[in-house]
Amino acid sequence: MRTSRGDVKDPKLAKEGKKRYEWADQHMPALRQVREVFSREKPLKGVRLAACLHVTSETANLMRTLKAGGADVTLCASNPLSTQDDIAAGLVKHEGIPTFAIRGENNKSYYAHLHQALAHQPSVTLDDGADLVSLLHTDKQYADRAEQMCASMEETTTGVIRLRAMDKDGVLKFPVIAVNDATTKHLFDNRYGTGQSTLDGVLRATNILLAGMTVVVAGYGWCGKGVAMRARGLGSQVIVAEIDPIRGLEAAMDGFRVMPMREATREGELFVSVTGDTSVLRKEHFARMKDGAILCNSGHFDVEIDIKALKKMAKRVARNVRTNVDGYHLEDGRCIYVIGEGRLVNLAAAEGHPPAVMDMSFATQALTVRWAVEHQDRLTPHVHPVAKEIEDQVASLKLASMDIQLDRLTPEQKRYLASWEFGT
Ligand code: ADE
Repeated sequence: MRTSRGDVKDPKLAKEGKKRYEWADQHMPALRQVREVFSREKPLKGVRLAACLHVTSETANLMRTLKAGGADVTLCASNPLSTQDDIAAGLVKHEGIPTFAIRGENNKSYYAHLHQALAHQPSVTLDDGADLVSLLHTDKQYADRAEQMCASMEETTTGVIRLRAMDKDGVLKFPVIAVNDATTKHLFDNRYGTGQSTLDGVLRATNILLAGMTVVVAGYGWCGKGVAMRARGLGSQVIVAEIDPIRGLEAAMDGFRVMPMREATREGELFVSVTGDTSVLRKEHFARMKDGAILCNSGHFDVEIDIKALKKMAKRVARNVRTNVDGYHLEDGRCIYVIGEGRLVNLAAAEGHPPAVMDMSFATQALTVRWAVEHQDRLTPHVHPVAKEIEDQVASLKLASMDIQLDRLTPEQKRYLASWEFGT
């Protein structure tokens, strides 16, 4: 039942949800420290905040942190298939955080929930795919909302690309911070998080043996690098398909075979698309794939696999041949399997990135919200980077939690680095 306190699948799941986000919290030491400071200093007092994020145990701990900082927070899902219903219930019941998210919700409910989050009248928004920012810019009912906006944080590569395009066209109405581009986010979350959780989703959905299998990874950005590296680690033969010359070269020198997708389709047994672009796997590829090929997407939107074309080619679609796996039976007798309806496989078929890596992403998020509130007078309606001091702080917190110490430069080394006269 939808009320101002939230809309969740089953409030009775709250106890299980609380147990799970408390478990995750044990693996999020940097965020925990930020929460302790926030609880004492209340830097977000009076800030109304709406977040549109994957509703997971890790996100629950971010929301608890922002609330501990004094913000008045609300949460909605950033994908219809990534919500963990027990977490949503736990947030409403045990944390008093209005949460609007139901796993498997349809488009109508998904958008109603976005609007519910905006009905909270936020001055700060957090996005995972730019949905709230897009609505604030395109829906007439929010035409006068820019004035009350302090800033918005963006968590994904896909979202940042879209926001930069808006910035370039001069249509951005308020400041946006590209949290995704912080090193403490993409270097770890996109690579190690996506690498592990994508394969986690594939394995939970299919229980295939990756050793000896041919895995085709489309896209060699930070996420693609992670997937390729981890698939190789499990014994797969990995082929990379790229469109960018530098990345293609990098993949080749990292030891992967690189070839156009059209060629890779002849050999691939598992296909993982991680490009952020549309129709990466399409009709011409389906027509050439092996019988039994398994496809999944780990990019933000469900556009990378052209499911409509696949459906058209199929004489029959067998739903849920295993949980989260559909089989598309083609006229010629081949069957192609798709995991999680082509939505983010790590969140549709597994639990998303592990808490230890979301720890850095969300500590960066929380500190950047504080920074934006404290610097709002200086922020212009453009895309801004995360402050360098926040990145250093998050990395230092994480290293300390791992009991890792670094060396320090000696005075002589400092002098050497600062001088152009030495060393030739
Ligand atoms: N994106 C990827 N994994 C995630 C997680 N566990 N929580 C929130 N957002 C995510």
